[in-house]
Amino acid sequence: MPLPEQFMQELKMRSDITDVVSSYVNLRRAGRNMVGLCPFHGEKTPSFNVYPENGSFYCFGCGVGGDVITFIRKIENLDYMEAVRFLAERAGMQVPENHVDDGLGRLKSRLLEINRETARFYHNTLMSPEGADGLEYLRKRALSLRTIRHFGLGYSPSSRFALVDYLRKKGFRDEEMIQANVAFRGRRGGVVDRFAGRVMYPIIDLRGNVIAFGGRILTDEKPKYLNTSDTLVFHKSNSLFALNFAKNENSDQLILAEGYMDVIALHQAGFKTAVATLGTALTSEQARVMAKYAKEVVICYDADEAGQKATARAIPLLREAGLAVKVLTVPNGKDPDEFIRSWGEQGYARFRQLLDSTGNDVEYRLQKIRQGCDLKTAEGRVQYLTSASEVLSTLESRIEQEVYAGRLAEEIGIDKFAIQQQISKNAAKRRRQREQKSFQAFQQQRTGARDSINPEKVSHLRAATAEESLIGALCRFPEFGQLAEEKLPPEKMITSFNRRVYKAVLGHINSGKAFTLTDIAEEFREEELSAVAGMAARMQDIVIRQADIEEYIRILTEENERLCAEQASAGDGQDIASYLETLKSMKK
Ligand code: UTP
Ligand code: MN
Repeated sequence: MPLPEQFMQELKMRSDITDVVSSYVNLRRAGRNMVGLCPFHGEKTPSFNVYPENGSFYCFGCGVGGDVITFIRKIENLDYMEAVRFLAERAGMQVPENHVDDGLGRLKSRLLEINRETARFYHNTLMSPEGADGLEYLRKRALSLRTIRHFGLGYSPSSRFALVDYLRKKGFRDEEMIQANVAFRGRRGGVVDRFAGRVMYPIIDLRGNVIAFGGRILTDEKPKYLNTSDTLVFHKSNSLFALNFAKNENSDQLILAEGYMDVIALHQAGFKTAVATLGTALTSEQARVMAKYAKEVVICYDADEAGQKATARAIPLLREAGLAVKVLTVPNGKDPDEFIRSWGEQGYARFRQLLDSTGNDVEYRLQKIRQGCDLKTAEGRVQYLTSASEVLSTLESRIEQEVYAGRLAEEIGIDKFAIQQQISKNAAKRRRQREQKSFQAFQQQRTGARDSINPEKVSHLRAATAEESLIGALCRFPEFGQLAEEKLPPEKMITSFNRRVYKAVLGHINSGKAFTLTDIAEEFREEELSAVAGMAARMQDIVIRQADIEEYIRILTEENERLCAEQASAGDGQDIASYLETLKSMKK
């Protein structure tokens, strides 16, 4: 059920794309457009464009684009209706009554209710005689009752039907429980609890909704932790455990630990800005989420090899999100939880000490390199210098580079200038590689190879290119809409995706109202709208006259004729008269 047009018109008017984007991205004017650093991928030179004229944005670096609603969906991780609601709230508008809860929204709130009831059930079980094992386990791990309540920890009964029975009595349907991933369909067709005999850690989002669970087995059985899979309300890749608490601290710093237990132990000890990913490696989305709440992240992973590898992978992701990074190493191979527990009463002070003496990621990386080189030998020093200047060349800040070059020079007793030269050489090489890569991506896009949105493009390159130019041109100059429709009605578009786009665009620009991408947004999927924004963006800096429009149309007419001819000769018995008929109608 589409939203009333009047509402959408007003929402559009009150949600100026430049205003909206500006609260997330630093934009500066460039001609008629605005440009900035793309918030959807890491980049150092801006290729993210906002086009106020047709209400669209497009990033030439990663190919993401769309209208103001797409932007909010992507950056806030919302679905279409949620994004509309978000913008309406921002604009001080009321979403029309019967649209407040669409089908998908209703299902989502059911899943959230199930999660809340489930968390309550697990918690109550933990506090009942049935949860004695769980409670004893948590107490042994030195958690206070206060901490257990604060995190809403629970216990899943080992009978495999307890939760399902409970939820059924509360009026939830089996299908909903399965969708929430708290139950699954067993081999005999019955519905079974997903978690059984585990200590349960609820995962809570920033609005206070329980969105998922992690469950730890009390024994050495595998898997140690069982986590909720992605559901309609839970996306592992952008959720962080305990961020709901950490964000309230209004601190500039977050501590990134590896496990649930580390986070809980840290909070209990007084470090309330600790968060963790949910059984997966850090993603760039999670890094961006953290960047919304902090300026600096202290990585505090396990000291084992896996932890160190994860640290090395997390550093660039966090940096690309604009965060300063520090790396804390817990001594003696312990994880933060063990470390704090081993110090008992002194836990806070001891960890505080570690935190305060923690170096930044550059120091950490240099130290790792230094460990692998024998600085007593000349070769060792050369090896150290080479790898170290490689690291320094990735730093964005010149000042930072100089400081470290200075230290390095002193450390191995060579001229600072030589080091700086080496760094510049590396930086230039890196830049060339980057440019080459983005050129390749551009080429690939241009030749239509692997175009999943418009799969017909590969076999109709000339036509598709003309189609896209025509559509892009019309987005900018709607006044040519009449002409285009007359000379090239939508059915003459050759590739079916572009035909759909063309039809939608014409439908709107020829209705006489101002055109923005939002007008057609509802008819397209997110990736499709990206592609349309790309068509418009590529025509943005080109002067377009009527002759150009006519040229695109001419190419398309020609391609149509060629295709018709091919079809006629291919289908040998086919009626040549009908072919001639088609040709005639085209020339009109
Ligand atoms: P760890 O094995 O380091 O867990 O895994 P931990 O938190 O120290 O667990 P305890 O102290 O033995 O209770 C780190 C994190 O990796 C995920 C969990 O999020 C865990 O907290 N993990 C680990 C899983 O998702 N599944 C597993 O089987 C193991
Ligand atoms: Mn542990």
